[in-house]
Amino acid sequence: MALRRRTLAPTPLSHSRPQRRPKPTAKARAGGCDDGDYNDACCQECGSGESPAELLLCDQCDRGYHLFCLRPILVSVPKGSWFCPSCTKQKEPKSFPLVQTKIIDFFRIKRTSDPIQQPCQDGQKKRKRQSSLVMSKKRRKLLPFIPSEDPERRLEQMRSLATALTASGTQFSNELTYCPGMAPRSANRASLEKGGMQVMSKEDIETLNLCKSMMERGEWAPLMVVFDPQEGFTVEADRSIRDLTIITEYTGDVDYLNNRENDDGDSMMTLLHAVDPSQSLVICPDKRGNIARFINGINNHTQDGKKKQNLKCVRYSVDGECRVLLVANRDIRKGERLYYDYNGYEHEYPTEHFV
Ligand SMILES: C[S@@+](CC[C@H](N)C(=O)[O-])C[C@H]1O[C@@H](n2cnc3c(N)ncnc32)[C@H](O)[C@@H]1O
Ligand SMILES: [Zn+2]
Ligand SMILES: [Zn+2]
Repeated sequence: MALRRRTLAPTPLSHSRPQRRPKPTAKARAGGCDDGDYNDACCQECGSGESPAELLLCDQCDRGYHLFCLRPILVSVPKGSWFCPSCTKQKEPKSFPLVQTKIIDFFRIKRTSDPIQQPCQDGQKKRKRQSSLVMSKKRRKLLPFIPSEDPERRLEQMRSLATALTASGTQFSNELTYCPGMAPRSANRASLEKGGMQVMSKEDIETLNLCKSMMERGEWAPLMVVFDPQEGFTVEADRSIRDLTIITEYTGDVDYLNNRENDDGDSMMTLLHAVDPSQSLVICPDKRGNIARFINGINNHTQDGKKKQNLKCVRYSVDGECRVLLVANRDIRKGERLYYDYNGYEHEYPTEHFV
């Protein structure tokens, strides 16, 4: 069957807040119900042939599905072959083995401490110091996450992320990575940000570093990655989390936005929105990344969607470099799913079909 191609001009960036960047659709295998050659190209879910540019045809059975009728939905047409739910016989992702040594190796946890021990004391001391709600609210100080106390539970949390990363073909990396052929680290200069970038206070940098060092020891934020048939992987709070708590940094490979205009990943994040667009940078967690790439977005077209938001995405200048953090923007109950707004400013990411 012939391919019809559709190219969308990339949307110019005119936002200054971070946003998740879906890629402009590079091609659509399109057809309509009333369209000669494409007679069968109706969506198997909703029965309609409308929005043909967003109707995907299965490379095996030629049946059609709207991007937005799939569960989880797709935000752009995949570049390579695509097989429909009945041809792939979708099933739950294969669980990563619940074997402590395997999990430790997967995440390259420092073996100096056993991640199934109790969290270290220095983290606890710092947390005590910062536990005055009134003070931290007033000064908007960021708080370090508090790992779950039960070591077995922490292992389960790590395993859930290992399962999701393995299923998505992503290696774990808790830092921004700079690879040959992409943007060099020297390109990450917060001073290039259009309108300037919020500078992280010394105290908050300390808190961020504390979170990072806790993670190296296997003391992670209390988060569980779960698989939902409608939303795909999604992240839940595994204990209550207070407003202003650092949830995670957004990590992955750093690249120039220009290099990624036709990328069909759905997890790109703006890192630097430069005055000169050729200097703008994005974080791409397709090859390497952490839990941030599994946190879902609100449907910002509905009131109910907006009510779900419990995180905000903030970009900071840390020692002159841009960094993206996900931070709680209200108290979060145990078991709540985490959501933030993929569209910091413009509605560039199509969320109208999000649950
Ligand atoms: C950054 S990824 C989030 C993790 C993703 N759920 C996964 O399984 O890898 C963004 C993708 O997640 C899905 N997604 C995110 N938020 C969603 C929501 N509220 N409802 C449905 N799907 C959602 C969409 O497929 C979107 O393209
Ligand atoms: Zn449909
Ligand atoms: Zn099929």
